[in-house]
Amino acid sequence: MTGSRPDIHVVDDPAIVVGELIAAQAARGGSIVLTGGSSVDRSYLHAAHLTPDWSSVTVWWGDERCVPPDDDLSNYKLAKESLLDHLTVQPAAVHRIKGELDPAQAADELDAALDGVTLDFMLLGLGPDGHCASLFPGSPQLDVDDRRAVHGPAGLEPWVERVTMTMPTLQSARRIVFVAGGASKADAVQRAFGGEVSHDVPASLLRNAAAPVEVYLDAEAAAKL
Ligand code: 6PG
Repeated sequence: MTGSRPDIHVVDDPAIVVGELIAAQAARGGSIVLTGGSSVDRSYLHAAHLTPDWSSVTVWWGDERCVPPDDDLSNYKLAKESLLDHLTVQPAAVHRIKGELDPAQAADELDAALDGVTLDFMLLGLGPDGHCASLFPGSPQLDVDDRRAVHGPAGLEPWVERVTMTMPTLQSARRIVFVAGGASKADAVQRAFGGEVSHDVPASLLRNAAAPVEVYLDAEAAAKL
């Protein structure tokens, strides 16, 4: 399977460019799906600076670690501290994944909340193993196509249970944006966006989505493409 050709952008500072994209979407309004990981806090801070009024936005997360919202591992906490706390007008709705609940219950709640929802902007990071959201290579969650959200174990650090949108839900977004930086991502970038579409590389499956996959990279992350 080759999938569609990703729209690759190699830029000096992908986190900042993606912050601009998030801000532009927030100004237009709609539903924005956030991610976790080590580099998106700069995107969120920049987006809040450029567009501090999120009154027309509903916010979602593509995945969450099963920890309380004030835990340092929480994707919600990351977004709260780098985005929500910096806004002058809060989003119309914040659909936090409840990491403090039993994971099956949190997944059920997310699944129900997503019923009938169109996701306008899906932000995704890329793990060194090719995962995105909390859909890890070889995990049974990756094959779930009859739910909008599931729970399951982590395939990589931090080793806490996860709740995640399923692949069909990620693929349903009207706009799909990946951000990755640094040499440690170069192999995964090549496998996800330069190789075949494969279940071994979950992020590559987004290339089967209706929307073209936009990928924002720095030169180090793009080095093996
Ligand atoms: C998470 C994420 C995950 C992340 C990638 C990239 O909860 O960890 O949502 O999918 O985006 O693992 O993260 P890094 O930028 O930290 O490598």
